Formats: sequence, structure tokens, C-alpha cells
Amino acid sequence: MKKLITYGMPVIVIPIFMALSPADNESNINTLQPSNSIRQTQNNTVASDSAGAKLFHDKTCFTCHGKDGKTPLAPIYPKIAGQNIDYIRQQMQDIKSRARDNSQTAAMHGIMQLVSDDELETLADYVSNLPRGEAMYPPPGRRSPGSRLFRRKTCFTCHGRDGKTPIMPEYPKIAGQNYEYALQQIRDIKSGDRTNGMSVAMNGVMFLVNDEEIEIVADYISKLAP
Ligand code: HEC
Ligand code: HEC
Repeated sequence: MKKLITYGMPVIVIPIFMALSPADNESNINTLQPSNSIRQTQNNTVASDSAGAKLFHDKTCFTCHGKDGKTPLAPIYPKIAGQNIDYIRQQMQDIKSRARDNSQTAAMHGIMQLVSDDELETLADYVSNLPRGEAMYPPPGRRSPGSRLFRRKTCFTCHGRDGKTPIMPEYPKIAGQNYEYALQQIRDIKSGDRTNGMSVAMNGVMFLVNDEEIEIVADYISKLAP
């Protein structure tokens, strides 16, 4: 709740200034365009003056997820840069409606009350086009325990062999995700604390992994090239 108050304040103030600034007209026009045309524009730009970049700043997203969308405030917060747009949209909607209410989700719930459907679409488009970044580690070998688990426990069938080519657009890329965040989400999907979106698909195979294996495979995911 403390966070809601901290981050809620500037957002209530900012739109008043935005309404007075001429730049706001432009951002409203962009917001109203069909998402395909935004996608094309932002593929080329991801410009700091795009409607998405402005919203990412004005709605305080950057304070928790980092300006680049991949340097979050805490290791238990997710990297979101370059995530699948369909997955991002669903998660933002679910965090807004509380359909997703696990782990640290409450931290973001408040700000989502100040994000309209059009703004949500613009933000999802912007975030999905942010560059994912470089691998920080030499990739773990195929014979490493994490790599074996990733294959044997069927993770690759949904998330892709490289952890970033999921079989469905609504499924997340997980390669290079923060270890602590990934670990918590796997635990929550297994325990049923997280049931939103398509979580049930993954919940069905979680009987295959025990606590220790979850730690090993979360570590493996975090070291895959994003
Ligand atoms: C106060 C901190 C905070 C703010 C502000 C915030 N988020 Fe989040 N966000 C989080 C946390 C924490 C999670 C992970 C929730 C969990 O632990 O389950 C999250 C999750 C997400 C997810 C889902 C990631 C995934 O891999 O499932 C997306 C997408 C996202 N945020 C986008 C945004 C956008 C866009 C904004 C701005 C409108 C925003 N967030 C503002 C903290 C924040
Ligand atoms: C049957 C398909 C399926 C399988 C198999 C599967 N997952 Fe998932 N996984 C999903 C889906 C779908 C989600 C997103 C749930 C949602 O829509 O909210 C997810 C979410 C995740 C997340 C959280 C991502 C985020 O950004 O919040 C992690 C981490 C993860 N899976 C790791 C794994 C690991 C490790 C395995 C193997 C032990 C695995 N998954 C097996 C479908 C699957």
C-alpha cells in the first residue's frame, strides 16, 4: 500500500500539466491510432518522444521496471523489454483487474487504475518493441543440470528451446528473466497463487518439478540470452 501512495501522487499531478502542454495533442492522436500502425512506427523508432515512451514515463512504469524496461528496481521485479505484446497486454489487464494477484503484483495494481484501455495498448506496444539486451553469461551448456531439466520437464515445449520463442503469442518469453522473479513465478504457478491468463497450461505440468529442480531451472532461464 505504501508503494501505491508513493507512486500514485506524481501521476495525479502530471496529467494536469500534460493537458496544458501542446505535445499532449500529438500523444493523444497516436494513442487513438490502430495498434498495427503504432507497431510499425515504433518498430523503427522506440523514440523517446513517442506516445508510448511518454506514457512509460508519465505513468511511472520506469520507476519499477527501469527506463529501458530491463533494469527493474528489485530482483523480484520482472524485466519486460521485448516481451510478447499479447502476453504484456493480458498481464497488464489482469494486474489492473486483480485477476493476477500473486507475489509483488499489488505494487503495480494502483498505477493500473490510472491507465485507460487505449493507453494500455500504446504501452504494450511500446514495451514489446524495447530491445531485450545482451547475454550476461556464457550460455549454460546442453549438459548442464538446468538445460537437462528444461528439456526433460517439458518447459521447452511451451517456451521454446531458447526460452524466447513460445508456441503461442500469449505465452511469455522467459530467457534472461531475473532469477528471483522467475523462481517466484514458477512457485506461484505451481502452488496456484497465480492462476491468471494461461497459467493453467503450465500448472498442469508443475507436478514434474520439485523445489530443488525449480531453483535449478530458474537459474538456467536467467542465464539464457534474452
Ligand atoms: C510500483 C512498481 C511498479 C510500477 C509503477 C509498474 N509496475 Fe509493472 N510490475 C511490477 C511488479 C512487481 C510486477 C510483477 C508482479 C508479480 O510479482 O507477480 C510487474 C509486472 C508487470 C508486467 C508483467 C510482467 C511479466 O513478465 O509477467 C508488465 C507487462 C508490466 N509490469 C508493465 C508495467 C507498465 C507498462 C507499467 C506502467 C503503466 C508498470 N508495469 C508499472 C511493478 C510495477
Ligand atoms: C504447457 C505450457 C507450459 C509449460 C510446459 C511450461 N510453461 Fe511456463 N508458462 C506458460 C504460460 C502460459 C505462462 C504464462 C501464464 C499467464 O498467461 O499468465 C508461463 C509462465 C512462466 C513463467 C513466468 C513468466 C513471467 O514473465 O511471469 C516462468 C518463469 C515459466 N513459465 C517457466 C517455466 C519452466 C521453468 C517450465 C518447465 C519446468 C515451464 N515454464 C513449463 C506455459 C508453460
